[in-house]
Amino acid sequence: MAKPTSMERYAEKFPRSKEMFEKAKDLVPRGVAHDAWQVSPFPLFMKQARGSHIWDVDGNEFIDYYGGHGGMMLGHAHPVVVRAAQEQLEKGVQLGTGCDLMLGWAGIIQRLVPSAERIEFMNSGTEAIMYGVRLARAHTGRKKIIRFQFHFAGAYDAVTVGYKKPFQVSVSGGVLPSAVEDTIVLPMNEEAALEEALRNRDVAVVMVEAAGASSGVVGIKPSFYQTMRELTEKYGTLLLFDEIVTGFRYSPGGVQAAVGVTPDLTTLGKGITGVMPGAGAIVGKKKVMEMFLFQDEDWNRYRRVSHFGTFNANPLCAATGIAYLDIIATGQPTKEANRNARTLRDGMQGKLDEREIPGCIYDGNFSVVHVYLGKCDLQGQCDRGVCVNAEKERPSEVGEALYRNFALQGVKTAVRGFDLFLSAVHSKEDLARTIRAFGNSLDTMIEEKVFK
Ligand SMILES: Cc1ncc(COP(=O)(O)O)c(C=O)c1O
Repeated sequence: MAKPTSMERYAEKFPRSKEMFEKAKDLVPRGVAHDAWQVSPFPLFMKQARGSHIWDVDGNEFIDYYGGHGGMMLGHAHPVVVRAAQEQLEKGVQLGTGCDLMLGWAGIIQRLVPSAERIEFMNSGTEAIMYGVRLARAHTGRKKIIRFQFHFAGAYDAVTVGYKKPFQVSVSGGVLPSAVEDTIVLPMNEEAALEEALRNRDVAVVMVEAAGASSGVVGIKPSFYQTMRELTEKYGTLLLFDEIVTGFRYSPGGVQAAVGVTPDLTTLGKGITGVMPGAGAIVGKKKVMEMFLFQDEDWNRYRRVSHFGTFNANPLCAATGIAYLDIIATGQPTKEANRNARTLRDGMQGKLDEREIPGCIYDGNFSVVHVYLGKCDLQGQCDRGVCVNAEKERPSEVGEALYRNFALQGVKTAVRGFDLFLSAVHSKEDLARTIRAFGNSLDTMIEEKVFK
């Protein structure tokens, strides 16, 4: 009898996920609630998680490397954070006015994030981006915004171009051409292109995923941070770092604290609570954030940036945010997650090298490990930290094959097996098992002729 393929073994090992996916499609059009959760032939359905582990509806246990889409540095259900949430649930979760906990929460953010002279809370990363763009346009009186190729920034209309080729076409139906016609998409790390685009002094903001596209898949040259700062200042444009993943992960103060370049605005999201759902923030320089201030009638009606949101700065998110960020502020979680990423990166690279498969495992010099399988002209010229090769391709079918093979061995990655988010609570045993699983996955993928 022929050996079952990994696709067949996947269907056999996760029957309840398959069943749920089919049933879910009668309720939720795609069967899942986020585009990035779709995977062939069906996504896994999970039931619970604790620390670095997660369990599916069939009772299988996995090491989790998605970590709340990158927001969790302390793993799932950290006891201190859970206690803070439980206590607050009993005290109320929406008090309909100012709340004492907001001060403590904003205070920690102000202390940690260099650009956070003022903070406004909202409910998601997408919302933070939306307010960032609106604020920049209102403050500068300019319409255009600049984004970089492949950078992700959530679901707000104006930023739905740039993430995927062709870069000038929105990734979504229903987005009006007028919503994206003022969004300019540029290649990353190219000083001349950036200066050319800024020269007319009509750009409100340059927005950048702070560690590069998709948490560092295509990274940023260290010198380019300063270039962006100098050029935006020269042409009166604001600089916005999207630190929705990197804030409180790259360092307790995000990329900006680590590289020593302070943007005018910063978007924060999942990382400000360690992923208690429903939190985001736009933070920035006082003079820009003052667009939110109430002043005279004329200003309030015609110039001020309005801000609503039933759950803004709600005490449940504030309580968990304080508990979480107090631990992050020690710096210890960053060190441990970075060390774990390095161990995984080097171990996985060893598995590629043993098999003489061209490719690279790199970590952007922080705690997200990326897999690239293929040739690279820059190989040997870099230290597998920041990768600036924007030409490399990561085909979906290869990423999904890696995801399925990892899953069969109890390792849960982001949906394509190419990205692994580390936390401070992944154990040595977790890492060793993952490295072995990567080697075995490569062997199966070679056997099944996944690599062209
Ligand atoms: C860099 C970046 N920006 C923005 C967003 C959007 O955040 P949210 O999913 O909270 O709307 C994400 C989400 O993954 C992100 O990674």
